[in-house]
Amino acid sequence: MDKLEAIWLDGKMVAWDDARVSVLTHTLHYGVGAFEGIRAYKRGSGETAIFRLREHIERLYDSAKILSLKIPYELEVLEKACADILKVNGLDEGYLRPLIFLGDEKMGLYAPDNTVHVSVIAWKWGAYLGEAALERGIHAKVSSYTRAHINSTMAKGKVVGHYVNSILAKREAKAAGYDEAIMLDANGYVAEASGENLFMVRRGVIRTPSTAQCILEGITRDTVITLAKELGYTIVEGFISRDELYTADEVFLCGTAAEITPVREIDHRVIGRGARGPVTQKIQARFFDVVRGTTPDHPEWRARV
Ligand SMILES: Cc1ncc(COP(=O)(O)O)c(C=O)c1O
Repeated sequence: MDKLEAIWLDGKMVAWDDARVSVLTHTLHYGVGAFEGIRAYKRGSGETAIFRLREHIERLYDSAKILSLKIPYELEVLEKACADILKVNGLDEGYLRPLIFLGDEKMGLYAPDNTVHVSVIAWKWGAYLGEAALERGIHAKVSSYTRAHINSTMAKGKVVGHYVNSILAKREAKAAGYDEAIMLDANGYVAEASGENLFMVRRGVIRTPSTAQCILEGITRDTVITLAKELGYTIVEGFISRDELYTADEVFLCGTAAEITPVREIDHRVIGRGARGPVTQKIQARFFDVVRGTTPDHPEWRARV
């Protein structure tokens, strides 16, 4: 990863190379920490806007609450840190990574008084699954790894340790020649991909797993639901089985990093026509217009830097 100038750490801008932690950092050992992934886009008008900043920072506080951690800053301080870190590093587009982690005071699982640290990092990040994937789509594998049970690790939190499950699935998928992993829940229903939410389309109806399942309540997922409804589509949230994916007309993944990525094949079954489908294309085009285009719609989603 290319180094930039500075990182926001515990309330201060520090030089990139000076943002270091002890090997005794509790989160490094046990995974109790939380983070966000946020994108800032340069829009058609030339201005830079952070997409749905408030919702991402609110989710960071929710993740902390789920973990019984108290973030030692007001929400507005972290919002400002996100805007500042872009400016300090001279980025007019980029990815923002607020991270909260526990300090090194005590080891052992029960370390309730360890300091809660906060950092905000920014870097340049292009299309997560590749530029071509946005148009051509990807080949996904249904993972042999199950998403944790709804009462296990608390999937509504974007928690550091959760990503072990995702990385196992991603590595398995990549090692077998696929682009991404689709994960099932403990009951065998479709949950989400390793770092994206999932939508399918069949006979004009758009379906996605419900937030009552063990999925992250994605902010892009919410954006897609809102935009799709505005475009006149019916959205149904609920259980999806693996074979329903195979026989879908269209499947797409969405997330801050992956944006809206079509899935053209799953487990060697061609989805629909094996290319980005018309519903996916419409929603994707609308999404990119809202985040980086020129439409004035949904100004409440864009925090100007
Ligand atoms: C497991 C998982 N699901 C879904 C998402 C998509 O969430 P969002 O759209 O808020 O980025 C992410 C990315 O943060 C994720 O890591």
